[in-house]
Amino acid sequence: PRIAVLVSGRGSNLQALLDAIADGRLPAQVAGVFSDRPDAPALQRVPAELRWSADARAFPDRAAFDAELAGAVAACRPDWIFCAGYMRILGPDFVQRFAGRLLNVHPSLLPLYKGLRAHARALAAGDAEHGASVHFVNTELDGGAVVAQARIPILPGDTPETLAERLLPQEHRLVVAVMQLAGAGRLAERDGKARVDGQCL
Ligand code: GRF
Repeated sequence: PRIAVLVSGRGSNLQALLDAIADGRLPAQVAGVFSDRPDAPALQRVPAELRWSADARAFPDRAAFDAELAGAVAACRPDWIFCAGYMRILGPDFVQRFAGRLLNVHPSLLPLYKGLRAHARALAAGDAEHGASVHFVNTELDGGAVVAQARIPILPGDTPETLAERLLPQEHRLVVAVMQLAGAGRLAERDGKARVDGQCL
């Protein structure tokens, strides 16, 4: 399968996919890496011919940027589109065009803490555990069907930074594990629900 990866920042989740592909754990191909930020360090993790970026702030509105992005993504003929630290909301046209093959990783145990500052909010709530979720993307922010989660305990003295740092390797494992399922043809979304081997999760 061909994977398009959407990024805005560092790209450690993209790197986890690249590493898994390189060492044979993930029989797939990164067909393109797409960013709303031309200066995203993540872009540097792949050869120039796989990179696409445009500064979202230079477009008149979300729909105009999304249309450019959607055209570029479609041109690489992806089987799956993975948002890995992509920090811009995708509008309904984009989401509908790629529905059923559009995934996101979010650093919380969804449905908890959709949106920004998830680590800080888990801490402030006094939660005993935290985690990350991979989910299908729908038009509700971080609201699509959850495919899989990774959990870690929250420890005394944790800060948003220590929590994020401890969660990140688990996030990487989760992203690779879900793409292994997806790439093997075992993952699908139907009626707003995630299914593995045809079974509802
Ligand atoms: C990850 O924690 C991801 O879940 C969140 O932003 C972070 C991106 O990390 N949305 P990276 O760019 O993949 O290193």
